[in-house]
Amino acid sequence: MSDAPTALPRVLSGIQPTADSFHFGNYLGATRQWVALQEEFEPFFFIADLHALTMEHDPKKLADRTRVAAAQLIAMGIDPERSAVFAQSHVPEHAELAWVMSSLTGFGEARRMTQFKDKTAKGGEGAASVALFNYPILQAADILLYRPQYVPVGEDQRQHLELTRDLAQRFNHRFKKTFRLPEAYILKETAKITDLQQPDKKMSKSASSPGGIIELLEDPKVSAKKIRSAVTDSETEVRFDEEAKPGVSNLLTIYSALTGRSIDDLEKAYAGRGYGDFKGDLADVVVEFVTPFRARTLELLDDRAELDAVLKSGAGRAREVASRTLADVYERVGFLPAQG
Ligand code: TYM
Repeated sequence: MSDAPTALPRVLSGIQPTADSFHFGNYLGATRQWVALQEEFEPFFFIADLHALTMEHDPKKLADRTRVAAAQLIAMGIDPERSAVFAQSHVPEHAELAWVMSSLTGFGEARRMTQFKDKTAKGGEGAASVALFNYPILQAADILLYRPQYVPVGEDQRQHLELTRDLAQRFNHRFKKTFRLPEAYILKETAKITDLQQPDKKMSKSASSPGGIIELLEDPKVSAKKIRSAVTDSETEVRFDEEAKPGVSNLLTIYSALTGRSIDDLEKAYAGRGYGDFKGDLADVVVEFVTPFRARTLELLDDRAELDAVLKSGAGRAREVASRTLADVYERVGFLPAQG
């Protein structure tokens, strides 16, 4: 590998700009860890706008949402001086490496990806795009280009990380050792934040009803109301038990993650007090968290030129790394040098 031996190990992750706001699952499951990891690693964080084309989309919204995503990452503590923050489409090496990786991926292997199965369950495979089928291969390319040690994501991305490792190994074996095998960085406690109305399902921008999902940029009063109306169970005891009490357990997870108080401590604090107090206090905690976050995001969105400059500089830093990896790959698969 061509990296200098003194270089910090890298961390990389991405998020799709497919909603007007990130939600609590995105934040607690993934992006909060991005903020924490940027200190000890060389960080690359991108907005997966190429992936946003895998489902039908509105071009005007995509551009806006890409900027809103960048603003939210900065508002939550990603420091663009430290971290390369960029749009995936600004680094053409992602699509280029995806083509090479697709040549190593079995058709059956791609068809077994649960996300493809889930997303085509309703409309059938025939209505799905080939891009949706290729989605995990592009994700593998996103990751492998940067040779990261860790990829901080939620539980739903584990299978994509496994495919990425398989493809990296296959390439290394078939050609020459080129890729580092990346590890999924998944925090057990917050790996799957669930829907407030259907606590046995994950909170999801595409599947959750408005009452089931807390969006970081919605009116904090609305978020508070959603917490107070979250589905619990017919008992009254605030106790963590994911099997028997998924709703209460999810609220405890959110409460603990936002305050740093342990689940144990929270269970004790609410012993004998019922769900009303518990939800009311959590609603306050949520409002306290989202109010300054939202203000900061809106402030950043007021200066589009600055956001665009952050994305441009991030893409420049990303390309320095990505182009070196791609050059190695092209040489190893036997492409003739383009010039010279
Ligand atoms: P996306 O945009 O769906 O979600 C972004 C991140 O949020 C996590 N997440 C959750 N975590 C816990 N509980 C939930 N309810 C929840 N919902 C979402 C996701 O696991 C993810 O980490 N395929 C990726 C984007 C991507 C990517 C990459 C990620 C493209 N290329 C390369 C890592 C590396 C995705 O759809 O994330």
